[in-house]
Amino acid sequence: MMKTRMIKIFDTTLRDGEQSPGATMNGEEKLSIARQLSRMGVDIIEAGFAFSSPGDFNAIRTIAQEVEGPIICSLARAKPSDIDRAWEALQGGPKIRIHTFISTSDIHLKHQFRLTRDEALKRAVDMVQHARGYVDDVEFSPMDATRSDETYLCEVLEAVITAGASTVNIPDTVGYSTPEKFGQLIRTIRKRVPNIRQAAISMHCHNDLGLAVANSLSAVLAGASQVECTINGIGERAGNAALEEIVMTLRTRKDVFCADTRIISEEIMKTSRLVSNITGMVVQPNKAVVGANAFSHESGIHQDGLLKEKMTYEIMRPESVGAGKTHIVLGKHSGRHAFKEKLEEMGYQLSDESLNKAFERMKHLADQKKEIFKEDLEAVISEEIDRAIEKYQLISIHVESGTSIIPTATVELLMNGASAKAMGRGDGPVDAAYRTIASMTKTKSRLSSYVVKAITGGTDALGEVTVTIQEEDKTVTGHGADTDIIIASVRAYLNALNKLTSRTDQQRKTGTKIKLIE
Ligand code: KIV
Ligand code: ZN
Repeated sequence: MMKTRMIKIFDTTLRDGEQSPGATMNGEEKLSIARQLSRMGVDIIEAGFAFSSPGDFNAIRTIAQEVEGPIICSLARAKPSDIDRAWEALQGGPKIRIHTFISTSDIHLKHQFRLTRDEALKRAVDMVQHARGYVDDVEFSPMDATRSDETYLCEVLEAVITAGASTVNIPDTVGYSTPEKFGQLIRTIRKRVPNIRQAAISMHCHNDLGLAVANSLSAVLAGASQVECTINGIGERAGNAALEEIVMTLRTRKDVFCADTRIISEEIMKTSRLVSNITGMVVQPNKAVVGANAFSHESGIHQDGLLKEKMTYEIMRPESVGAGKTHIVLGKHSGRHAFKEKLEEMGYQLSDESLNKAFERMKHLADQKKEIFKEDLEAVISEEIDRAIEKYQLISIHVESGTSIIPTATVELLMNGASAKAMGRGDGPVDAAYRTIASMTKTKSRLSSYVVKAITGGTDALGEVTVTIQEEDKTVTGHGADTDIIIASVRAYLNALNKLTSRTDQQRKTGTKIKLIE
């Protein structure tokens, strides 16, 4: 068996991640992220770009001195003033690195830097030497490496390693590469740069084509030993390779990569949330590893498999990234097995008949709203429980209402086992329905309160109606829930009337099929 290689994680959330539009962080925020990155076990933190602003300078300085564990690094262009400033910010820190860079692609050299290849090579060498005058740990990046001439790129790398660079980082600055090409480039560098063994090979991939993680992993397979990445994949434009995806791929597929990192994966979710809260960059729900849906299962087939054996549909445990437990989402695709399990988790145990009825009702509800929450289920179940002692049951209701007609309601009820239908008018659709039901049931009760509220968010929310009715010295409350507020109102009223009747009769029907065990 091949030995597992340890890959170093270079986190650039505080530098490249901060280059995401709108993701600016203040010094305190950067410090709290750096502390969490250290807790999570990253090897190197690129804390900022010291020359770029006094804020970045101070943040790097504080992090270098206060955050223990990782190497703290500052970015610096290949200019003496940048490198001096990086050193000023880092000095005094126990583990520090200067990361300097210059482009090597002709496109950048010609149009942006206005340098010849020879001039850029000399600048790179001079600046690595300048940085080595301050620290032993110097990283060099040939920017836009993936669009650079390979022979020239290899020459530059050889020269900067001779000048003292201990890490050479290969950036896919514009996210142009593909996994095969990128892996090939790393292999070429390993073959054609004679002194490559004196430096660690790193990569820094952008996500313009959505290939940042795949390209990084391909580089690992080709022999690279450091990955530059960010939490949640934030970064310039479409972002950088996502740390959590790389770490969990290496850990989950050791059989493929024979590599791992020192990351304490249980800290991943916490770090993701911290970065998202601080930067305001929301994590998409279907984002791998840290998205809200990453460990949620809705399909009945998947839920059934999971409940029998987690490995059927889960390649990593949510607990391993600190994401809590597997989340079974009840929705239109869910099955009876998951429904029953969820109810039992909530403390309800239903007979088969009642479970079937409640399940049908849940499915009906799921057709109307996207996700069924615990509160929705409670409403469905309490209706099912009350149904066992029902004298009056709703068969159908039809209402007509509007600005130019008198509201009318046609109600069909199952009353003591027989169906009855009636029509009535009122001041509004609910009033019309209530008056009709009152006359059908011949109740003498009086409505003393009517409250309606949305249980869950959205216009498709389940509306819950609570009514209180009084008759002589008896007061009862009824509940009803439905996405249609008129139906919810009728259910609540009937529920109250049923309770009133059962109290009046001084007995509840026995042999109920529903048992509430909490
Ligand atoms: O994307 C890039 O090329 C960079 C370098 C500064 C490493 O961020
Ligand atoms: Zn970058």
